[in-house]
Amino acid sequence: MRIGFFDSGIGGITVLHQALKFLPNEDYIFYADTLHVPYGEKPKEEVRQYIFNAVDFIAKQEVNALVVACNTATSIAIEDLRKTYDFPIIGIEPAVKPAVQQREGKRKKVLVLATNLTLKEERFYNLVKSLDHYDIVDSLPLPGLVEFAENFIFDGERVLPYLRNVLLSVDLKQYGTIVLGCTHFPYFEKILKEILPKNVDIISGNIGTAKNLRRILETKNQINKGSGDILFFQSGYKVEDNEIISKYKELMDLLDQV
Ligand code: DGL
Repeated sequence: MRIGFFDSGIGGITVLHQALKFLPNEDYIFYADTLHVPYGEKPKEEVRQYIFNAVDFIAKQEVNALVVACNTATSIAIEDLRKTYDFPIIGIEPAVKPAVQQREGKRKKVLVLATNLTLKEERFYNLVKSLDHYDIVDSLPLPGLVEFAENFIFDGERVLPYLRNVLLSVDLKQYGTIVLGCTHFPYFEKILKEILPKNVDIISGNIGTAKNLRRILETKNQINKGSGDILFFQSGYKVEDNEIISKYKELMDLLDQV
């Protein structure tokens, strides 16, 4: 049993990190489209092509299921991907539903942080429209965080000034729940907490996606008793360079600390 995980870059590791907790004995393929990251700032049609090229490649590695561990790719292509490939495809979307449920009957609002493309897409518009009956959901693009993550910049010294500056455009006191609607953002949870008012909840779709994957494998009776191996791929080739592989593994350790 092999499960593919796909993202534009290292964001997908934050979802894989959760999946490993729920499904430690699967064999995984992690594919990052490092040549074309960031997706969130590019034209939709161009990104759609990158996504299909990547998933074509992943399909050739004989996966039994694929997790599109990218909110942007999910919003653009999930329906078409499901029509094209015959293995189960699990997507991720901003966790608006639990966020709205959390805030029901309370005074504070929800702020969704994601890429520009995710927030501009019809899928996000429809998601919010179907859930946000009291007009409590706002959104803000944070493309800089994708860039920091891709450059392995995770320290507050460099990230905090950026965050302080972009978050000036919103009144943070109004929000009770922040949704991390991009899989690159969980690396910065601890840093975000330094700026956010106390008692703000931060949620993402990562755990829900990992649980969804487990549920689908259970339904198909496909839970593995294998080794939990991970093979890494980048934009059409298998990563053999141990330095790069160790960097991916270091990201998992980093996530244990945030
Ligand atoms: N990690 C991706 C997401 O969840 C996209 C980041 C990007 O490539 O812009 O949306």
